[in-house]
Amino acid sequence: MGTLKVTNLCKTYIINKRQNNVLRNINLTIKDGEMVGVMGPSGSGKTTLLYTVSGMDSATAGKIDFFGRELTGLSANEMSQLRLEKMGFVFQQMYMLKNLSVYDNIILPAYQSPAGAHRSGREKINERAKMLMHKLGISTIAENDITEVSGGQLQRACICRSMINSPEIIFADEPTGALNKQNSIEVMEELNRINAEGTSILLVTHDMKVASKCERVLYIEDGDIREEITLGKWKATGDIRARERMLNDWLIKLGW
Ligand SMILES: Nc1ncnc2c1ncn2[C@@H]1O[C@H](COP(=O)(O)OP(=O)(O)OP(=O)(O)O)[C@@H](O)[C@H]1O
Ligand SMILES: [Mg+2]
Repeated sequence: MGTLKVTNLCKTYIINKRQNNVLRNINLTIKDGEMVGVMGPSGSGKTTLLYTVSGMDSATAGKIDFFGRELTGLSANEMSQLRLEKMGFVFQQMYMLKNLSVYDNIILPAYQSPAGAHRSGREKINERAKMLMHKLGISTIAENDITEVSGGQLQRACICRSMINSPEIIFADEPTGALNKQNSIEVMEELNRINAEGTSILLVTHDMKVASKCERVLYIEDGDIREEITLGKWKATGDIRARERMLNDWLIKLGW
């Protein structure tokens, strides 16, 4: 069973009548509970891949099967419902609402879901939000406006929000991009923990240390998956140096 199965996916942008084939015939399967990293040069199509497979942007051609449902045929409403309930997003422009507190931003996707329509559902959501914030160490900033927190705290708040509806899969675009080393390690520990609990993750990164904690890493070039490497599930007791070396050698070979 695969969480996500992408077949012959193409994405073309047209600007001033010039055609830009950003994704060319992508074939990709994310297995249940798998954590897959995506690397590749700037402009190679990594962000576009996340947007397209999650239905945030339309595909030009190809199929996207998500738990047996074909996404390319869904209406905008069906798609946003599915995104809300089954997918989590940790993106660089984080779509946090500036006039709301950290806490309100985190619970927002859940209040928009069916559970948010009645009081007992909202009570459960509040409990879950508190539990997630506690786990990610941001309980003390719950009432801060999102403009009043550090980059690492904001990134962790974003992870809480992506998890509030217990998604099947999390899409993360450079989730550690704006972070220092320590914050980056913490965010990855969190993503690894979430993944160990069964949530699939598709994560774009430029950081080799981040990618080395993924189960499998894809290398995208010119909108095409050129190669992939399987590192296996990361465990805290594992040999991270050996994984980094393996990944580094692979990337050098690919001319990264
Ligand atoms: N909305 C858009 N409209 C038109 N062209 C776009 C759009 N989004 C991206 N592109 C183009 O698609 C190509 C791939 O962009 P994308 O953002 O997917 O790259 P990326 O691999 O994520 O790069 P980076 O590592 O710099 O984030 C680029 O040539 C970009 O200019
Ligand atoms: Mg990008």
